[in-house]
Amino acid sequence: MTSTAAASVVGQPVSRVDGPLKVAGGATYAAEFDPGPGLCHGAIVTSTVASGRIASIDTAAAEAAPGVVAVLTHRNAPVLPYHEHKGLTDPPEGERIHLLQDDRVRHQGQPVALAVAETLEEAVYAASLVRVSYRPESAVTAFSDAVAHAVPPGPRYRDRGLEGDGGRGDADAALGAAPVRIEAEYVMPRLNHNPIEPHGTVARWSEGELTLWDKTQWVDNVRAEMAAVFGLPPDRVRVVSPFVGGAFGSGLRPWANVTLAAMASRHVDRPVKVVLTRRQMFGITGYRPRSTHRVALGADRDGQLLAIRHEGVSETSTYETYAEEQLGSSEYLYACRDVATRYRVAPRNVQTPNDMRGPGKVTGVHALECAMDELAAALDMDPVELRLRNDTIVDQSTGVPFSSRSLRECYQAAGERFGWSRRNPRPGAMRDERGRLVGYGCASATWPAMRQAAEARARLLPDGSAVVSSSSSDMGPGTYTSMTQVAAETLGLPLERVRFELGDTRMPTAPVHGGSWTMASLGSAVQAACAEARRRALAEIGRADADLAAVLRQIGEPVEATVRTEPGDELRRYSAHSFGAVFAEVAVDPDLCTVRVPRLVGAYGVGRVVNPKTARSQITGGMVMGMGMALTERTEVDPRDARPVNSSLADYLVPVNADVGELDAVFVDEEDPHVNPLGVKGLGEIGTVGVAAAICNAVYHATGRRVRELPVTVERVL
Ligand code: MOS
Repeated sequence: MTSTAAASVVGQPVSRVDGPLKVAGGATYAAEFDPGPGLCHGAIVTSTVASGRIASIDTAAAEAAPGVVAVLTHRNAPVLPYHEHKGLTDPPEGERIHLLQDDRVRHQGQPVALAVAETLEEAVYAASLVRVSYRPESAVTAFSDAVAHAVPPGPRYRDRGLEGDGGRGDADAALGAAPVRIEAEYVMPRLNHNPIEPHGTVARWSEGELTLWDKTQWVDNVRAEMAAVFGLPPDRVRVVSPFVGGAFGSGLRPWANVTLAAMASRHVDRPVKVVLTRRQMFGITGYRPRSTHRVALGADRDGQLLAIRHEGVSETSTYETYAEEQLGSSEYLYACRDVATRYRVAPRNVQTPNDMRGPGKVTGVHALECAMDELAAALDMDPVELRLRNDTIVDQSTGVPFSSRSLRECYQAAGERFGWSRRNPRPGAMRDERGRLVGYGCASATWPAMRQAAEARARLLPDGSAVVSSSSSDMGPGTYTSMTQVAAETLGLPLERVRFELGDTRMPTAPVHGGSWTMASLGSAVQAACAEARRRALAEIGRADADLAAVLRQIGEPVEATVRTEPGDELRRYSAHSFGAVFAEVAVDPDLCTVRVPRLVGAYGVGRVVNPKTARSQITGGMVMGMGMALTERTEVDPRDARPVNSSLADYLVPVNADVGELDAVFVDEEDPHVNPLGVKGLGEIGTVGVAAAICNAVYHATGRRVRELPVTVERVL
């Protein structure tokens, strides 16, 4: 292949370069690493009260059980320094739980002991023999009680740009004067992370150095956190995570399995593996918080928005404040002069929530886009037309223009593919050939285009191949593949001569693999490192342009460049967001009220698309998650003791293949010259945004029933 052919590799639907390894079982996930001889297994014992003190803890039977190496509790666990450390994705307010450091219990499911044994079975059995009694203390367990004491997110969130109150103009006055008004409350339950690979860690100490094989979206953060917890210089900690079996934000911060594995490994002086059970995934990791939103919209009779008032409250823990930007989209998505937003967090005796795909937006846009549908009905106006009438090229929350915005084109493209024009606007008017009520619904989607500093290394070898590396992760989007494409194109080498490596703290520093910013951030660094390495190689032989493989053979030794790139001020001069439009068709059984989703169609403006194949996978995967949010997923928390009661995949229902109909995702042509060197806006999260609203709006269209509490279950449609 010539360099000309390689130059067109960006934009091609390249299959995953790591696909063969994954399907052949050759990809090694965190808990599969072999740390060498002596590996033992840890099983976590968790608290059964929401708040209180450990009154007594009896480990005698566990210690006497077969194969047990140690049982760690707050009484014998090593005292750890737990220095302050806050990664970008840790809540800025509050303090993390210091594991096994005292007798305090702050939430159901908090680790209170770790049984370490020769085998997993022996560890699990020993853990079952640990007897704990508690002195319970008063706890806020019901969400409604927590809401009564809700507070603004706090000053450190303000420093990050998240205010409790926002908006412009006088929304109350504008609402009062608006000829058409709607107001409604929407309830969104807690949603838990359910990647098929649970969180797990293998820890090994060797001469005072700690190596961790961990499931994470951010090896550098795990290193920094463990260095802080154990009081080590960061260069004494290595974290390795080449493959992740699905993660949607749960890998953004290290959970108890990491610290407990490292603690136990040091204590027993052997490598230790700790993997969370599915039930523990609901009690130890974070989750999308339960929230309640109230939205009031005012418009003139032509559908021009005159006022938006959007209030939201979401749960957090008592020891940290987790807040997310739930209401920002109500300030910029549509043109509207008078806007008021009010966001509060409700502390509850539960573990701290955390980011879950499209955090904040998924929640806030759901409420806004359901309300927009209610307004369209009140106006007797087509819901698409209502959105388009309030389209804007300026972000009115900041007064700066959007770097690019194709919301209108998205509605046109998706609406056409969907067949929106076939919609009879009257609710209940459409039926399918099986007599089911058919509904069509739509919603807007939006996600900010962000960018972080990133570092990458390109190493060009005499055989005409290249190895490019950075400490990033690939939790599913296809980062191995897309970075290989960017590198191959920049170097002018064929794709198969380029290998991209990630997931090791020994590599140049990548930002957290999240926020939909990996391509913008790391892609820019990979591009810059490859351009620099190529420039150096050509300079060696005094040429400005030549076939790189031939040049490398001529040089006869490796040429390397490590480059760090940072965003400029472009994201202050422009408001940068991906936008999309999603359409849902539902079929509702008129007798049983079961809701099926035969079709979801989405169109998105995300800037340049590096790989349409993996990009489409990202969006359709996100759509399935949105379908789960709409129809099946909810974590039931017992209001009496804050225990998640459906903490298994049998009781927490994620959509399966049989639930999913036709998924269609397309990208509109969009060139964004402002946003970053690659012109990419990110598409990891936007696929989930708006889906639940489109489905709820379709259910209304099918049945005339507004279901304002998710998920849309049979009894709520009846
Ligand atoms: Mo995403 S919630 O930043 O993994």
